[in-house]
Amino acid sequence: MKKIHLGVFEVNSVNHLTQGIWAHPAQNRIHFNSLDYWLGIAKILEKGKFDFMFFADSYGSPSKNADLAFREASGPPGNDPMLLLPALAAATEHLSFTMTTSTTYEAPYANARRFATLDHLSKGRIGWNVVTTSTPSAAALFGRSDFVPHDERYDIADEFLDVSYKYWEGSWEEDALQIDRKQRVFTDPSKVHPVEHDGKYFKSQGYFSSSPSPQRTPVIFQAGSSERGRAFAAKHAEGVFLKAPTLEVLRDQIADIRRLAVEYGREPGSIKVFTGLSVVTASTSEEAHRKHEEYLSYQSPEATLASYASVTGIDLTKLDPDSYFENIHTEMGQTHTDRFTKHAKTKKTVGEVRDDFLKKGFRGVTIIGSPEEVADRIAEVVAITDVDGFNLEPYVLPDSYTDFVELVIPILQERGIFKREYEPGTFREKLFGNARLSEGHPGAAYKHTHTKV
Ligand SMILES: Cc1cc2nc3c(=O)[nH]c(=O)nc-3n(C[C@H](O)[C@H](O)[C@H](O)COP(=O)(O)O)c2cc1C
Repeated sequence: MKKIHLGVFEVNSVNHLTQGIWAHPAQNRIHFNSLDYWLGIAKILEKGKFDFMFFADSYGSPSKNADLAFREASGPPGNDPMLLLPALAAATEHLSFTMTTSTTYEAPYANARRFATLDHLSKGRIGWNVVTTSTPSAAALFGRSDFVPHDERYDIADEFLDVSYKYWEGSWEEDALQIDRKQRVFTDPSKVHPVEHDGKYFKSQGYFSSSPSPQRTPVIFQAGSSERGRAFAAKHAEGVFLKAPTLEVLRDQIADIRRLAVEYGREPGSIKVFTGLSVVTASTSEEAHRKHEEYLSYQSPEATLASYASVTGIDLTKLDPDSYFENIHTEMGQTHTDRFTKHAKTKKTVGEVRDDFLKKGFRGVTIIGSPEEVADRIAEVVAITDVDGFNLEPYVLPDSYTDFVELVIPILQERGIFKREYEPGTFREKLFGNARLSEGHPGAAYKHTHTKV
């Protein structure tokens, strides 16, 4: 069986996947304002040979039930995760970092420069999770009156990526940086090229400021499971985060992404697909189930249903619980409406959708059991779906990570499913064996191969 890759699904704020769990006495994520807290987490993950820490991030502010959001910390307070990364990179040697930014709200040049800087500082251990931002409250924060429709957000993202590749891949030739004190040439001017971009959504002209970083383009991740989202992923993404309601749907979506990637001229193996993995484990199965129940006893049902509304725009508490959850359309995120409509085996009532969401929330594959049971199930999921790895979704921190590192990782290593040692090199080398974008990736077309005359 293939070896899996492991990341963790993080946010630089209090709550994430189980609203209300901040109140658990062992929940240390309440210390998210402290760098020491994050350094401790990164060290646990590197000890466990995790591949990466993935930081989700979004712009938005509570618009409907702000009192509840503040009381339960289901949105604010939270900080910009990107600013943690140089410190976390300095405290680790191999752990990589996937950072989220939005193509709907960032400026491509500034975004590209920040990622190039991070790639230099981390020696190539950076990935970029490209999101299009599905929350209308972000538009208000940025003084925009428009909320761009779902599919058009991905059209904008396509062009955003094209202009970013021009900066990262096309502006500087490989040997442009000379740092030759004798000849007084820091950069050979004949090997740096201005970017010209005059598109539908973006215009940019000029030289990119950062010299080539170890990976140039960060490892591109994407996490939208809608049809348009998956088409975008098949074209650009090297890592994809997919969430599906059943393993069969996950298997089909993975096969679909690999097939689409081939249509875009890419190798099927040039995309690694990850899915969310929530694990509660303890020395016995009974103890693990008890622990899971105890975790969920801290959940706030009100805040959980509000989090569904904030992602999909659909307030389940306002709908008749006995009516069918059908004919649903949203211009916000569609992954978590599709899971109860398109991808459900039978029609669901609103009450059933609500109960399912309260149990699973936005979590992916959930495994509660002894370490052996968890390892067995992980192997089974890989065999059924052909997934390449998992994003571990914590409940209580750092316990969710220490439990996994101490109890489950040694079994996965024993069975040959997970590495015992890190591979050398950049994030892309660790995942694929090559430091730079592979041929066939649309960004590789912008590589500069000859000097201007
Ligand atoms: C694992 C995972 C992580 C995500 N992380 C973020 C994030 O950090 N920020 C964000 O705005 N959206 C995030 N999303 C949402 C998606 O990027 C996407 O915007 C959303 O699902 C709507 O697009 P879709 O309709 O194509 O699914 C995430 C989704 C998944 C499955």
